[in-house]
Amino acid sequence: MKYVALLEELKDAINGSASFDDATQMICERLYTLDEYDWVGFYMAAGNRMLHLENYVGDATDHTEIPYGKGICGQVAVSNESLVIDDVNAEDNYIACSITVKSEIVVPLFVRGHNIGQIDIDSHKLAAFNDEDNQFLIAINEALSNAFETYLVERYVGLNG
Ligand code: SME
Repeated sequence: MKYVALLEELKDAINGSASFDDATQMICERLYTLDEYDWVGFYMAAGNRMLHLENYVGDATDHTEIPYGKGICGQVAVSNESLVIDDVNAEDNYIACSITVKSEIVVPLFVRGHNIGQIDIDSHKLAAFNDEDNQFLIAINEALSNAFETYLVERYVGLNG
């Protein structure tokens, strides 16, 4: 497991963060330093079955609002399951943020069983992500959810079901 030490570092940093906003910014900055993690961001429930881009690190994107069901992110908002996409150009339901992106992983963020958002990572390399990345990102989202449970319930649960 190549992410064991980093996961412990991130859990400590999450638990030491003053807010969800600070924690997600820190996570974006730290993950962006990893090889092949070329864009890192959090899309969160925004009401009316829309996702809204909150903190991110990487190139600016026009896609700050994504409807549920649309693109990789929108599919994860509906399915409650991670998506690991080896080749984004082979996808029919995909929203291109940049022509340099070749693969992507999106992992849902749950609080008390509600899917309230997601972490989204893009890579310039084909098939950059595997189940190890998925488990790593699931664990990060669980740590966030545990650390900021009360805030996340009040802020997001009920916005999109
Ligand atoms: N590719 C995503 C859109 C978000 S960008 O990657 C930043 C999608 O298809 O949902």
